[in-house]
Amino acid sequence: MNNQAVSAPLVEPPKDYELVLKVIPMPGDCNGNGDIFGGWVMAQVDLAGSVLPARHTQGRMATVAVNEFIFKQPVRVGDILSFYAKVLHIGTTSIRVHVEALTERFDTQGKYIKVTEATITYVAIDEQGRPRPVPRR
Ligand SMILES: CC(C)(COP(=O)(O)OP(=O)(O)OC[C@H]1O[C@@H](n2cnc3c(N)ncnc32)[C@H](O)[C@@H]1OP(=O)(O)O)[C@@H](O)C(=O)NCCC(=O)NCCS
Repeated sequence: MNNQAVSAPLVEPPKDYELVLKVIPMPGDCNGNGDIFGGWVMAQVDLAGSVLPARHTQGRMATVAVNEFIFKQPVRVGDILSFYAKVLHIGTTSIRVHVEALTERFDTQGKYIKVTEATITYVAIDEQGRPRPVPRR
């Protein structure tokens, strides 16, 4: 485990966002620095980001774009990661979502640090994998 102290501001869970996923990284998810591999974090963000669009697409969808992805702080083994999401825009076939990942360090549970944020776009697709309109509710 990488125990180097990194000063990071404490934050509150974002208002108007929904908690869509909690996950605990394992030692097998580390990179050569001993921190959690960025690709693992990206996969979790992609999964977390798909939760709210799934309510709208009511069926198959695909990630079409990662419009922005920021790694603000490292994630460490022993952290508990919480992913909060909010729908930014619903288009004809696409849904754009903002995801914020906050961590509680192993020894400071209940105190949150923002580690990652991303904006991702998902597209509702039909059985042939072509874009289809997002059903209006
Ligand atoms: C997703 C996919 C079906 C979209 O097909 P496409 O022909 O590129 O679709 P379109 O150009 O008609 O765009 C569809 C929607 O995506 C949006 N979109 C396309 N590229 C985008 C981008 N770079 N950023 C944001 N939105 C984008 C379009 O604006 C459109 O939204 P709207 O209908 O709400 O206006 C196709 O690109 C695909 O199969 N990609 C691979 C998906 C994949 O394997 N993802 C990883 C695993 S889930």
